Amino acid sequence: MLYLDTAATAPVRREALEAAWPYLTGTFGNPSSHHLVGEAAAAGLEDARARAAAVLGARRSDIVFTAGGTEAANLAIKGLALGAPRGRHLVTAATEHEAVLQSIDFLRRVHGFEVAFVQVAADGSVSPEALRAVLREDTTLVSLALAGNEIGTIHDIRAIAEIAHASGALLHTDAVQAAGQVDLQGLGADALTLSGHKLGAPKGSGLAMIRGRHPLEPLVHGGGQENGRRSGTENVAFAVALAVALELAESERLETAARLGPLRDRLVRRVLAARSGVLLTGPGIDHPDARLPGHASFCMPGRSGESIVLDLAERGVIASSGSACAAGSDEPSHVLTALGIPDEVAQTAVRLTLGRGTTAAEIEQAATVIEEVLAQG
Ligand SMILES: Cc1ncc(COP(=O)(O)O)c(C=O)c1O
Repeated sequence: MLYLDTAATAPVRREALEAAWPYLTGTFGNPSSHHLVGEAAAAGLEDARARAAAVLGARRSDIVFTAGGTEAANLAIKGLALGAPRGRHLVTAATEHEAVLQSIDFLRRVHGFEVAFVQVAADGSVSPEALRAVLREDTTLVSLALAGNEIGTIHDIRAIAEIAHASGALLHTDAVQAAGQVDLQGLGADALTLSGHKLGAPKGSGLAMIRGRHPLEPLVHGGGQENGRRSGTENVAFAVALAVALELAESERLETAARLGPLRDRLVRRVLAARSGVLLTGPGIDHPDARLPGHASFCMPGRSGESIVLDLAERGVIASSGSACAAGSDEPSHVLTALGIPDEVAQTAVRLTLGRGTTAAEIEQAATVIEEVLAQG
């Protein structure tokens, strides 16, 4: 099997599992318990927090462990918007992940916030001018991903954070896809959210880095764990696994990016040459640095993306159609339609995402299979 769907999820890394194991067995205590067993678990949790904070250039107290990237985005967006709203105006892009879009829509529906969608260029990028055009005096929060999950466009979050701050707004960035491929330090974000399962930690692990100086309204109320920011007995094992996976991903980041970028470019060239009419979505082939190194996404007019993905799977190549993240939906991807791609073309989307284990031989093999499938019509 050739697995080219790392943007959907990645296998758990042995190092993460081994680091987590003691907290599921011998050191199983409740970190809030004031005895030896609880204190040992609390020490593991705090060590994980310190390690994750170090990777992000944050303080330990800025880290809130969550049950995944979706919860983390919900906490950052709703928590900051409701914590101390400067005004009732929010800014995001129509190309964001549903975790971001639905959190913002909740604030609109239930709390009366107004929402502005920044203009996104055809390659998925957001220009400084486009952002300035939608910011208002009462904008409380801007939420823009560090990199998109469907088309892999990397946003210049440093510049975006500066512009948001100059107008007095906070900035949240969804770094779920970018982690391990893009530098997470020095972005200037007030909040950054991550998911463990894209990095080699289990599904259901995640974190929100929310700078402690910003008031945060918690979403989950109860015993006041995580410094009152997220109640519920902490999942120590998953926090430890996430911290280990994140550290490893960061330490391997430059090497991974340097290796995957050329493999991706090779794949893109072969797929584009496989049949006329195939188009690369997101940044063009002449702008490889604007796209995640392990990310390639296409529209392949003539057949639905779903049916191409099924044919590829039959031949052992695991890919996803553009709408994979909205599980079970056969609607055209909201990301592609937001870029101005017509519905019937968006429905032909196929995404191929490489992981740390992907080899050059696998890419050649996958490209040959794609050529065969496309040659069938
Ligand atoms: C960009 C982005 N944000 C958020 C999420 C949600 O993360 P999780 O699956 O951990 O809830 C995903 C997962 O697909 C994603 O790709």
